[in-house]
Amino acid sequence: MKFGYFDDAQREYVVTRPDTPLPWINYLGSEEYFGLISNTAGGYSFYKDARLRRLTRYRYNNSPLDMGGRYLYLREDNTGTYWSPSWMPTRLQLDEYECRHGQGYTVISSKLNGIKSSTRYFVPLGESLEIWQVTLTNENESDADLSLFSAIEFCLWDANDDTTNFQRNYSIGQVEVVDDVIYHKTEYRERRDHFAYFACSEKLAGFDTVREDFLGTYRGWNEPVVVENGQSCNSEAHGWQPIGSHHVKVHLKAGDQKQITFILGYQENPKDDKFDPLDSQIINKKSAKKALEKYLQPINADKAFYELCEYWTMLLGKLQVSTPDEHTDRMVNIWNAYQCMVTFNMSRSASYFESGIGRGMGFRDSNQDLLGFVHMIPERARERILDIAATQLKDGGAFHQYQPLTKRGNNDVGSGFNDDPLWLVLGVAAYIKESGDWSILDELVQYENESGTESPLYEHLQRSIQYTLDRLGPNDLPLIGRADWNDCLNLNCFSDTPGQSFQTTTNKDGKVAESVLIAGLFVLACQEMAGIARHCEDHTEVNKVQNAAAEMEKTVWGAGWDGDWFRRAYDDFGHVLGSKENTEGQIFIEPQGICVMAGLGVENGKAVKALDSVGEHLATPHGIVLQQPAFSQYYLHLGEISSYPPGYKENAGIFCHTNPWIMIAEAMVGRGDKAFDYYRRINPSAREEISELHKCEPYVYAQMIAGKDAATHGEAKNSWLTGTAAWNYVAITQHILGIRPGFDGLEIKPVLPSDWNGFEATRSFRGVRYEISVKREGSGNDVSLEVDGQSIEGTVIPLPNAPLTGQEPKTVKIKAVVR
Ligand code: BGC
Ligand code: NOJ
Repeated sequence: MKFGYFDDAQREYVVTRPDTPLPWINYLGSEEYFGLISNTAGGYSFYKDARLRRLTRYRYNNSPLDMGGRYLYLREDNTGTYWSPSWMPTRLQLDEYECRHGQGYTVISSKLNGIKSSTRYFVPLGESLEIWQVTLTNENESDADLSLFSAIEFCLWDANDDTTNFQRNYSIGQVEVVDDVIYHKTEYRERRDHFAYFACSEKLAGFDTVREDFLGTYRGWNEPVVVENGQSCNSEAHGWQPIGSHHVKVHLKAGDQKQITFILGYQENPKDDKFDPLDSQIINKKSAKKALEKYLQPINADKAFYELCEYWTMLLGKLQVSTPDEHTDRMVNIWNAYQCMVTFNMSRSASYFESGIGRGMGFRDSNQDLLGFVHMIPERARERILDIAATQLKDGGAFHQYQPLTKRGNNDVGSGFNDDPLWLVLGVAAYIKESGDWSILDELVQYENESGTESPLYEHLQRSIQYTLDRLGPNDLPLIGRADWNDCLNLNCFSDTPGQSFQTTTNKDGKVAESVLIAGLFVLACQEMAGIARHCEDHTEVNKVQNAAAEMEKTVWGAGWDGDWFRRAYDDFGHVLGSKENTEGQIFIEPQGICVMAGLGVENGKAVKALDSVGEHLATPHGIVLQQPAFSQYYLHLGEISSYPPGYKENAGIFCHTNPWIMIAEAMVGRGDKAFDYYRRINPSAREEISELHKCEPYVYAQMIAGKDAATHGEAKNSWLTGTAAWNYVAITQHILGIRPGFDGLEIKPVLPSDWNGFEATRSFRGVRYEISVKREGSGNDVSLEVDGQSIEGTVIPLPNAPLTGQEPKTVKIKAVVR
């Protein structure tokens, strides 16, 4: 069953009923000011950091779902009937309802009793404010007297403190209401130099800033007493829960339409110019007023909206494909690319499943996210790399996360996830391949954000590689540390205390437990490092990493190969995991993917063997599960992985992030049908028909789909913020369609499903616009290329001689024949 449809021409998903199985979310904002918005206008806003600069409140884990949002209420003043045009929170049945989620904007439209309303929510590029453009239309034959109320609930900035420190918080809330604008200024009197403002384009009939006055004590957002009575209280908040609500009276003649604009914004002031007058406690509102003057004018707001759409056309235009499969086209051309940009902005911090309080930017996460967005905004990928690298530890290790506001390593989660540094090598390689910007290697970057430690990024990469070599275990495999890519495989944790963090507890010295995944990742990173070092003519480094990779490969074929697949790890007792010797956790997906991606076994048939084992033991119609058999109980020596009930998350869930590794591996051994089949199984668009089972948004990937051991096999969770986005994008575009950036140019090497006769694509790359046409003329994967009518040797298109960046892109036609 579906709850909407894709409108590909508009690049929108259209939700056609409000009661989706879960709130179906979208994101507003592109740079500093962001928001989540659901299909019923739930969600919240923040500036840069969802924890430390939260503008509005949201209640996770609530019933009804999705409480707190950008709410509006419409009231027919002659009958007293009132409703939410976004359905929530009144949930009054609407005659019509539609929510269109696009890139960086959402439009929610509905109709009741002949009154149509349509609200477009978006954040203009380069601004720290959001605009709600409400259009009301009276489709009746008689005049309508309406009241429109807005309602948001302010968060007292630090979202964590806001939900815990009530003895203080109930006394600190402060607002100002001046010229019909509501200013939220809690803590502005002391150390904060920022405030929020909430304004409306119309003359107000009233306002409220005291939540209980607006709602009525013991009432919910579904039945505010002020809306019921059609009369605001003009209340001024002193402590408790400050809110912002405007009341606008609208008289609409039959057939008439009116547009009303609301703006919610964030403003910082210079420390010494906070107050106006200077010796007062009144906010200096100059900058906020300027923004309001501009965007409360519909013409300026409309212009900002069109600029936003053009921006997305430009970003998505970097790669557009036309294949025989509509789900592929829609994901590659629109939604998967969009999701990659969202993961770039949010990392794993703020979604319907990530509270925005707990987690900052992940070191390994951000490096992998980069793989999916680097072609759209290489300059911001560059900045991101330098930010991440500056949190690297001197020994080559990494803070597992950093805080987006401060860009500093997060001590609460610490370090010791031994795979982390290797992802930096992959991230930097991807950036250089895309941009050709070798100068990034010379950038001086600090370690641990400490001044005086600046050294070239190149050296950071060397230390990343060395970090693994300095930490080899009894089998000469890399020591796993706190965990490798699988955060839940905690082999040094041994926690028996409820509530203790699996991520930070370490009860073992970490000198025994080893990871085959890190071994494979190390080989992969060494290959990238060799490519980088070769270009830099650093032959010592080339030799070093090539030898180290060869050595590691040997080790894997010894201690890491189980006969039919790659093993997973060795635990603190030196016992193998991911082997036929185990009764549970016999085979894991990760090493099959990563080791084959590193080329292991591709020549000698073992890769195919490992992939066949994946097909046999791990594949389900809903995707490939993480391991089998699932762990049936909690094992002290395995940690969080065994804390999950079988079939969920890392305990044999379909952990979607890893599925594209298998797709890539299948493509590497030349099996396009299998690669594409796996791609289809988890493609959210291809799963739209089973939305009542899948539950999450059909337009973005979820981190997890419940595995075959779960009662809810096929049900997705943790949508949006997942490495699944970047890796699926890489798998389909670079390996199945085979359009792959390389150090020396763009490579075209598709491994297609057998029933495709080809595809077309346009790809912008280093200032060139490639128009690519691929035709299948045989059943194999041999590719021959013609560049502007000239056939060339090999599959890499030579780079144009002159640097082309910044100029009109040159168009180059590529004809590829697959035989
Ligand atoms: C989740 C992992 C996640 C980790 C990060 C765990 O509870 O299962 O997927 O990486 O938390 O903190
Ligand atoms: C989600 C985390 O964000 C990521 O870093 C980790 O690799 C996976 N979970 C697997 O545990």
